[in-house]
Amino acid sequence: MCGIVAYIGSREASPIVLKGLKRLEYRGYDSAGIALLNQHLTIYKKKGKVADLEETLAGRNLHAQVAMGHTRWATHGEPSDRNAHPHRSADGKLAMIHNGIIENYTQLKSELVHKGYTFTSDTDTEVLLNFIEDIRQNNGCGLEEALRIALKRVTGAYVLILMDEDQPDMLIAARKGSPLVIGIGKDEHGKTEHFLASDASPIVEYTREVIYVNDHELVIIKAGELVLKNLGNETLTPFVQRLDLELAAIEKGGYEHFMLKEIFEQPDTLFDCLRGRLDSQKGTLTMAGVENHIGQLKNASRIVIVACGTSWHAGLIAEYIIEELCRIPVEVEYASEFRYRNPVINKGDVIIAISQSGETADTIVAIGKAKEQGAFIFGVINAVGSSISRISHAGAYTHAGPEIGVASTKAFTAQLAILTVIALKIAHEKGSISNTRYRGLLDELHKIPQKARETLLLNDSIRDLAIKYKDAKDALYLGRGYNFPVALEGALKLKEISYIHAEGYPAAEMKHGPIALVDDTLPVIFVATKDSCYHKIVSNIQEIKARKGLVIAVISEGDQTIANMSDDCIVVPETDELLAPILNTIPLQLLAYHIGIAKGCDVDKPRNLAKSVTVE
Ligand code: F6R
Repeated sequence: MCGIVAYIGSREASPIVLKGLKRLEYRGYDSAGIALLNQHLTIYKKKGKVADLEETLAGRNLHAQVAMGHTRWATHGEPSDRNAHPHRSADGKLAMIHNGIIENYTQLKSELVHKGYTFTSDTDTEVLLNFIEDIRQNNGCGLEEALRIALKRVTGAYVLILMDEDQPDMLIAARKGSPLVIGIGKDEHGKTEHFLASDASPIVEYTREVIYVNDHELVIIKAGELVLKNLGNETLTPFVQRLDLELAAIEKGGYEHFMLKEIFEQPDTLFDCLRGRLDSQKGTLTMAGVENHIGQLKNASRIVIVACGTSWHAGLIAEYIIEELCRIPVEVEYASEFRYRNPVINKGDVIIAISQSGETADTIVAIGKAKEQGAFIFGVINAVGSSISRISHAGAYTHAGPEIGVASTKAFTAQLAILTVIALKIAHEKGSISNTRYRGLLDELHKIPQKARETLLLNDSIRDLAIKYKDAKDALYLGRGYNFPVALEGALKLKEISYIHAEGYPAAEMKHGPIALVDDTLPVIFVATKDSCYHKIVSNIQEIKARKGLVIAVISEGDQTIANMSDDCIVVPETDELLAPILNTIPLQLLAYHIGIAKGCDVDKPRNLAKSVTVE
């Protein structure tokens, strides 16, 4: 979704902001723009990529020590130059960039139209900007006060940054529901400089000192001083943290695409997320978030998992694992549905929120709603310091490092590993798992990073498969038990990256409808490793073969039965059925990646998609 970045200090601001916009490209966008403040306010904006904006800027005087930039993912108004941000107020004095949605913008717009305002774009942003300008003029107040008054009238989500031509040493920002990080650095003369961004990626190469701005907070940076306030105009003490992020983690490191880099990082990310937590020799699991709240977790009458997309698939697998090991009923909810229902939340319910970014708008609101009703919120989050990690009562980070490829890969397998640790820890404390099974699973979990490494050796053979199947119009992914959500995830990856229509189904459900699709052109990908459903899935494969479907099967080592029935096989290392989804997902990620590449798709930035879905 939209990305924002701004700089105020003594260096040339535009190269910093343009580089920052490139770092934010992964979030997904369709236009980009920059505003420079150097005596006068100058705005350049362009539909398309940041590279298109740079072309427009070539040869121009971009000298300024204050600048802000924006990548826009269209919500109100089509992608176009005029709808791109920054926007300028009707009096020409103010510029604003905004991420989020102003829900009552039509009402505000009609008030402004009534007063004679005209608009140059279709955006809610321009409406809010002129609303602020109007308050400033009519109330005779300063920009900060006008913004405070305006935000009290606004419903919706925003992070915004404002520039004022008459105050060229100042930037004002505000946040509600969308992320904002401030970096505090020193230039080469030791003077303080400030960076503002949607996430830390544009900031990390300049400073490690950051402030994560909270909802309903205003940031005023003026003459090198930062002041944090709430909407009631009270000054707050900023919490400055040290950023734990290496620049290398947000660069491609020799890989052609972030997605491939992140797929190949999985042995390391799995190792990292288990490091310090799992000691298979001693038979211990350490996880403060669970230990400090063990009473609440093991006595939960019910666990409700809320998440979206790939994280929701991780939730489905966790449902099976937690019910199996902990004997606690689990429900898995799409956050976007949960937030608009009237869900029954009882005392003793635990909500597990799963999110890579920790910024998904629907998940944030869903857990807010459950929290209001007294639920205990446990976050399983990748992005350190993100909104969900801060509003949860407790949680565990997945430690997969920044995920830049739009399609989630390494974050998913890390989520599965962490959710398994959580389930094992609760089950052990509760006494719902035998010691032998517990120790067996710990040993197997310990081997998972190495088995992930072995699974990646399939890369070349999967590239060949991708060439063979790249022209398919549709694909069906089938699995049972723990592998059913893996089928859903495989289908989602293929859709996102290659734009091939794909459906994931529980293999047994196929007879209730989707089997009508099967003919001799349809690839059917079975996730069919040896587990308690194995014999059942063998029958399902026979049913597809009887209808001449093309079967590609993900199978366990030495499985000659399915190998003989299939058109193509992908053989993965054997593991416990609870952990098999971690390994079985990897070849499906590679298949989607290579098909996407074979079809010439932009795999790191698939069309229409955004990495962090910060609007509902
Ligand atoms: C798919 C994908 C999305 C995300 C979803 C939730 O590859 O990345 O489906 O999983 O948008 O995002 P998070 O996990 O950040 O809440």
